[in-house]
This record gives sequence, C-alpha cells and structure tokens, in this order.
Amino acid sequence: MQDIDVGMLPTERETNGISIRKYQAGDAAGIVESVQESIATVGTWLDWCNKAYGNAEAEAWIAHATDTWGKAEQFAFAIVDATSGDYLGGVGLNRIDIETQSANLGYWIRQSYQGRGVGTQAARLAVGYAFELLKLTRIEIVCGAANRPSRRVAEKTGARYEGLASGRLTAHGKPLDAAVYSITAPAARRTAA
Ligand SMILES: CC(C)(COP(=O)(O)OP(=O)(O)OC[C@H]1O[C@@H](n2cnc3c(N)ncnc32)[C@H](O)[C@@H]1OP(=O)(O)O)[C@@H](O)C(=O)NCCC(=O)NCCS
Repeated sequence: MQDIDVGMLPTERETNGISIRKYQAGDAAGIVESVQESIATVGTWLDWCNKAYGNAEAEAWIAHATDTWGKAEQFAFAIVDATSGDYLGGVGLNRIDIETQSANLGYWIRQSYQGRGVGTQAARLAVGYAFELLKLTRIEIVCGAANRPSRRVAEKTGARYEGLASGRLTAHGKPLDAAVYSITAPAARRTAA
C-alpha cells in the first residue's frame, strides 16, 4: 500500500453485469433516488439513509469520496449496472491502516435491487481490488449481529467469522452488537502458515 501510486490505479472493475467504479460528478441524482427508496432496509442499519438525505448530502458524499480516494485514505465505489449505468448502491474500503495493511469493507444496495446477488458481486470485486491492486492483506467486515443479509454477503465473499463484538456498532443512537468477519490475502495466509 505504501508504494501505491493512486493516479495509476484503475478506477473501475466489472463482473457479470455489475461494475464498481470511482464516484463521479453526476452521481447525485441516482444516489438520492436509491437512498430514498431504501429507508426501510438500509436505513435500519445505516443512519445516514433517512428522509432528510437529499442532493446536498449526495454532492458532499461525492466530494468526500473523491478527496479521500486522491489521498488513498479510503476507496469508495459506486455500484452501477455495467450496461445501463444505473446506480445500484455503494461499496467501500475505509479505515485503511497502513501499518497492518488492513481495511474495513462496507456495502449497501438499493432496496429494489436487493436479493439479486449484487451485494455479493460488489463485495467480491472490492476485495479483489484491495488484495490485487492496493496490496492490502486483511479486510474486516463488521455487521450488525442481527443483520442477516449483510452477514450472508460476508460469508459468500469468503470471510471467516471471528466473533461477536459487544456494542461495536451503533444505529439510531443505540449500541449494537456486531459480528466481525475477516478475509486475509492469499499471500498473508502463506506467510502465517
Ligand atoms: C446487506 C446488503 C448489501 C445485501 O445486498 P444484496 O444485493 O441483497 O445481497 P445478495 O443478493 O448478494 O444476497 C446476500 C444474502 O442476503 C440475503 N438477503 C438479501 N435481501 C434479503 C432480505 N430482504 N431479507 C433476508 N435476506 C436477504 C440473500 O438471500 C442472500 O443470502 P442467501 O445466499 O443465504 O440466500 C443489503 O441487504 C443492504 O444494503 N442492507 C442494508 C445496508 C447494510 O446492512 N449494509 C451492511 C453494513 S455492514
């Protein structure tokens, strides 16, 4: 990760009709529409997904995602339909720790596209990006313990369950117990063996 030239990194990866790519100016409308249709599901777990989320919030998010990508502080991707370009959700590598070469993986899929494998495909693409291009060696996924779809995405992405972390997350001002998962890069696993 230390030797990565951010300007040389690809900004998009694609599989099976799903693409993850760097956020762009012009994404705001798709984000707002996706957030507004997803309050019943995404909003249960992620506080920012609420009725008040509008164009200003989406523009601020795009600016933040662009700025932090440039500094290699986080890699936030829009998930889009590879053919139509329609916005489907977000997936991101954040809390990057240079010392341990690790990052947290987060994801959300707009409600009308949930249950079609998009979350799993997008998570796998982001993990591939982290290991192959950023040369990270450990990805952590921290899900609400009761968040079954999120836990299934972690499991289907090849993550190993590491245990329950009390009060590790919050939602709507309340602490939540979290299921912690990790994926380690093949190279790291070889070193540990
Ligand atoms: C978690 C999330 C990203 C999954 O996205 P997705 O595109 O629906 O995921 P997939 O289609 O790849 O399905 C993954 C698993 O979730 C299950 N699932 C999806 N939607 C579900 C629902 N509404 N109820 C129950 N299970 C559901 C699928 O059946 C699948 O499990 P299976 O293989 O055992 O059948 C999505 O539900 C979401 O955005 N949730 C809210 C935000 C969130 O919790 N993010 C994670 C924070 S750590």
